[in-house]
Amino acid sequence: MFDQLRAQLPGWVQDSRALANQGKVAAYIPELAKAPQHVLGITVTGRGGESVSVGETDFKFTMQSISKVFTLLLAFMDHGEEGVFAKVGMEPTGDDFNSMLKLELVEPGKPFNPLINAGAIAVTSLIKGDTPAIKTERILRFFKEASGGANLAVNSAVAKSESATAHRNRSLAYFLKDNEVLGEEVDVEEVLQVYFDHCAVEVDCPQLARMALVLAHGGVDPITGRELVPRRYVQIAKSFMVTCGMYNASGEFAIKAGIPAKSGVSGGILALVPGQYGIGIVGPALGAKGNSTAGVHLLEQMSTAFDWSLF
Ligand code: DON
Repeated sequence: MFDQLRAQLPGWVQDSRALANQGKVAAYIPELAKAPQHVLGITVTGRGGESVSVGETDFKFTMQSISKVFTLLLAFMDHGEEGVFAKVGMEPTGDDFNSMLKLELVEPGKPFNPLINAGAIAVTSLIKGDTPAIKTERILRFFKEASGGANLAVNSAVAKSESATAHRNRSLAYFLKDNEVLGEEVDVEEVLQVYFDHCAVEVDCPQLARMALVLAHGGVDPITGRELVPRRYVQIAKSFMVTCGMYNASGEFAIKAGIPAKSGVSGGILALVPGQYGIGIVGPALGAKGNSTAGVHLLEQMSTAFDWSLF
């Protein structure tokens, strides 16, 4: 596979890069608007650590919604399935990732899943730690472990930029407090601070691919042999990636690519081929549903060529 990938990936990247013209770089977080429209990079890493990188794979970007998969795993490790599912549901919404709609319309006002913003904020409130700084530190430590020990850090300019403009997320969080999804003891601003920080953890494609590899192998880092997350929790996270990972385009992506993936508004996509590869992509121009246009196209081409679909 890697020989074929080395031969074909440059051509596929070139084809997919053209799709950046059909997207727009996210601007609602002002710092993100600085990303160049036509960047496209991809790293695919295999179980022995072999990897192929094509395009601008050194380009640094913040994880944004991709981080939600990993905070979900940490919340499971902190509270078990019952504790997490007391706060969030298991279903896709069909609404935008930052929608408030169903929080009011559908009893009991619990976010439908942990990958929409409301659900991820609820999950962040579950992360253990005495102070927001300790919570962020635990999250960062876990992300670093999952990346095989990379020196990851929060891009504080991005976190601050998000916090300064996060009127929608603030409303969602206060709404959750009113619905008692965020408990009495929870300080809404502190939860938001941790949420903005984990969304702003900066990675490049090889680091993202390495994190994906751990999910591809059921929570075991195949390179070190260490179990980082119980298999059951990874199974749940991958189910969410298939049903909600690409937001309202998750159905189309399941049909066209058929592998678990999670996107972020910085243009990152983490994807995986179960039992085999971890994939990290960046392509900052987003389509109408919030996913990298070039990145999605690239994954669809690759999945078709290598017959990766799980279905
Ligand atoms: O909360 C937000 O809006 C961002 N920090 C993350 C959103 C995101 O990445 C949605 N993904 N496509």
